Amino acid sequence: MKKSTTTIAICLTAAAAATTPMLQSCLKSSATTRAVSPDGKIGVNIGTKEGRLFYTVDRAGEAVVDTSYLAIRMLEGSIGENSRINDISHSSFDETWTQPWGEERDVRNNYNEMRVAVTEQGDSPKEFFVVFRVFDDGVGFRYEIPEQQNLTKVTVIDENTEFAIAEDGVAWSIPWNHEYYEHLYETSPISRLDTVCSPLTMKIKDSLYLALHEANLTDYASMNLTPVGGSTRLRTYLTPLSTGEKVVTETPVQSPWRTLIMAENPGGLMLSRLMLNLNEPCAIEDPSWCKPGRYIGIWWGMHMKDYTWEQGPKHGATTDNTKRYIDFAAENGYDGVLVEGWNKGWDGDWSANGDKFSFTEAYPDFDLEEITEYARLKGVSLIGHHETGGAAQNYEKQMEDAFSLYERLGVNCVKTGYVNLLLDGKELHGSQYGVRHYRKVIENAAKHHIVIDNHEPVMPTGLQRTYPNLMTQEGMRGQEYDAWSPDGGNPPEHTCVLPFTRGLAGPMDFTPGTFNFTNKAQPGTRPNTTVAKQLALAVVIYSPLVMSSDQIENYAGRPEFEFIRTCPTNWDKTLVPEAKIGEYVTIVRKERDADNWYVGAITASNGRDTELDCSFLPKGQRYKATVYTDGKGASWKENPYPVEIAEIEVDSASRIPLRLADGGGAAIAITRI
Ligand code: NOJ
Ligand code: CA
Repeated sequence: MKKSTTTIAICLTAAAAATTPMLQSCLKSSATTRAVSPDGKIGVNIGTKEGRLFYTVDRAGEAVVDTSYLAIRMLEGSIGENSRINDISHSSFDETWTQPWGEERDVRNNYNEMRVAVTEQGDSPKEFFVVFRVFDDGVGFRYEIPEQQNLTKVTVIDENTEFAIAEDGVAWSIPWNHEYYEHLYETSPISRLDTVCSPLTMKIKDSLYLALHEANLTDYASMNLTPVGGSTRLRTYLTPLSTGEKVVTETPVQSPWRTLIMAENPGGLMLSRLMLNLNEPCAIEDPSWCKPGRYIGIWWGMHMKDYTWEQGPKHGATTDNTKRYIDFAAENGYDGVLVEGWNKGWDGDWSANGDKFSFTEAYPDFDLEEITEYARLKGVSLIGHHETGGAAQNYEKQMEDAFSLYERLGVNCVKTGYVNLLLDGKELHGSQYGVRHYRKVIENAAKHHIVIDNHEPVMPTGLQRTYPNLMTQEGMRGQEYDAWSPDGGNPPEHTCVLPFTRGLAGPMDFTPGTFNFTNKAQPGTRPNTTVAKQLALAVVIYSPLVMSSDQIENYAGRPEFEFIRTCPTNWDKTLVPEAKIGEYVTIVRKERDADNWYVGAITASNGRDTELDCSFLPKGQRYKATVYTDGKGASWKENPYPVEIAEIEVDSASRIPLRLADGGGAAIAITRI
């Protein structure tokens, strides 16, 4: 770890790097109004215009963000509108830290920081800082408002941070207030955006990919982006509380980091760890109990209406059925079995009456003690389920008892759910109210050594660095839509967009692995993929916990199940050999602590021929590659089932030809011989 704050040295290097006329003289610790990335490619400038605080961003000598104002309007007065820059200090930081689990083991956190001390002038002057961190792959900045006499209570009415994107381009977005981010991404010019949530992915200048988002969302409202007058100038729109206020708190206040990732190809966005680097280091002393893994569930059966969540003749969560799933899990190397509908409260319109849920009382036909003991003997864990129906208060009241019960019974993973547009009938999931609730759940779960898989969350912001027990979340249109969505399910391009949009925010519990596309419950709705693409999604869509979605019967007699069953969920390294957002993507991952490599290649509706260049393999080693591709005549629409399996020997000089059917995919397990 290296942190340098030596004023003179910094002043000289920073002054040498400055390219704008805004350069200030190097008095006291203030050096320059410009900070550059360690590789010198990205620059940020700060200044004031008629008292308004602004910044700009450039990359490789070209503007990326034009003059963009920085301001927060508070009931207690604004900042950023009548500002005087008092001091600017520069420092550098470089360390490599290890993730307990993730898409790679080691993450380099290397940036140059510019800390800008500002006075908001007026009758009641206020002090604040804007802190910029400039990385080789982008920029993060946040507001810091220290404790001070003129500002104790803080009521944010609006945060007016701007991102004036230097030119128009393509944007991939979803609307800001749609149900739990479960929406298909829309493509539009940046200048035609409506209010959208972040991450907002964009492409400008033919080959520059940008993603706007936030990191470390703590006791604040989640960020959305809204265009200013049909231009490419975007402004933050914080998710409001029911009172209309955005954030109600006290000084000291730190906003989340506003983040801008930049890359020359879509893969570069995916491989950026800027979001994680802008979160605090791990707060859990020994996170070794936060274990990645694979699970199956008494789940798809409910969505197919073969089972019910509530009690009755088709109740899915019975002791016998759960034991059957536990046996299957043990035989096939799964770590866990999720069982939904085990607890009292599912009867009637559960999503409207969440207050009825008990998180400690099981239905009489589900013997929690017997099941957890049975699972323990088989080396499998029950995965707990807490659907709250959005009744956050009801959950908070029971949380301590519920987590204690699970901890005592060896249940160390809980899937939570919030199926309701509003929490407690009044507040949006992404509001400060929701943010506080979700944090409470993560922190309490950690005390009981429980990891969380949160469905219907607030958009992730990299908090898993600090709380590695926040392992995965839904917060997107997952595979459940392929069971019951009246529009026929997720279209073929959806999974070619997710890794570059929602996926930039954090792991996704998408639940790939459906093998049987017959749907009596909602005819015409199904996974709009081939089966080979279902296999590939296990690699493409990153999650440390991956559920194989289908009912266990549907895996019987299917040799391709081997890939789903054995594909790891924790990695040393990730590569993106090729990607075009919305069209295709190939991802290569190296298994954590093993010289085995897994590949997923997917395409949208159009088939494609491609080739996997194996030069990522260490030289001089031989490997067995088991290649699962779309079989003869396969296509997502007409004939999704054929899968061809071939075994070949490969080394770093090999090139594996892959034919992907329309809406198809390929999955490869490359294991060291
Ligand atoms: C929505 C979740 O996404 C799904 O996985 C779950 O089965 C239902 N809620 C019921 O909790
Ligand atoms: Ca959901």
